[in-house]
Amino acid sequence: MRPKFIAGNWKMNTTRVEAAQLASAVASRVAEHDRLTVAVCPPFPYLEAVGNAIEGSKVALGAQNLYSEPSGAYTGEVSGPMLVDLGCRFCIVGHSERRHILGETDAIIHRKIKAALAVGLIPIVCVGELLPERDAGQTMDVVASQLSSAIAGLSEAEAGQLVLAYEPVWAIGTGRNATPEQAEEVHSHIRKILADRYNAILAGKTVIQYGGSVKAANADSLLLQPNVDGALVGGASLQADEFLAIVAAGLRVINR
Ligand code: 13P
Repeated sequence: MRPKFIAGNWKMNTTRVEAAQLASAVASRVAEHDRLTVAVCPPFPYLEAVGNAIEGSKVALGAQNLYSEPSGAYTGEVSGPMLVDLGCRFCIVGHSERRHILGETDAIIHRKIKAALAVGLIPIVCVGELLPERDAGQTMDVVASQLSSAIAGLSEAEAGQLVLAYEPVWAIGTGRNATPEQAEEVHSHIRKILADRYNAILAGKTVIQYGGSVKAANADSLLLQPNVDGALVGGASLQADEFLAIVAAGLRVINR
């Protein structure tokens, strides 16, 4: 059975002190579990402080982005080797806010995935449709196209490293989560694409998170879906109690 993976994407929030406090509060209450992974993804400037706060705990460190080159004259960018140096295990790639606000294309996202894999970072690759695309019945095509571009040319060994996150853009930060049925439908579609492109074993092992207004009150019903393997949590990950309640929902589902 696939593990559950709950990750907090703090986005551009917290101060340095708040980040360390939040990380400590989460780390002190997450226990070792062989089928549950928990990670926090603070802003770049706080990676080190958060890394120190969670050191020795069962909480892993993730970044929210990286640049596609390992070093060089790229003013303002942060590379994969730097993230590894800071203790990151995960890196979110292709978040919808980067696609739609910062202008990242499928090609850029693909290069970033390759760069993360090259240094042993596990990319959390985000895909998801806009509301007009859902309304137009294009959800499956949009997700398939984003995913196909993300994995284009990746070997089975490379693709096997990926974590995927289905994040419908209309559900992000809106309080309107996808229903468990809507999430399940897209997640099983994603798994089928992986099975067709690679094989059923790889597809069956790949962790696919759902993201978009996940909170304690809806986490159980989403995580109970057979193809929903975790949550990528935005706003609710900024409060330790709420985030830990989502982690607890993951444990409940595992122990059912
Ligand atoms: P919210 O949980 O705030 O809707 O954000 C989801 C998200 O974008 C996680 O990456």
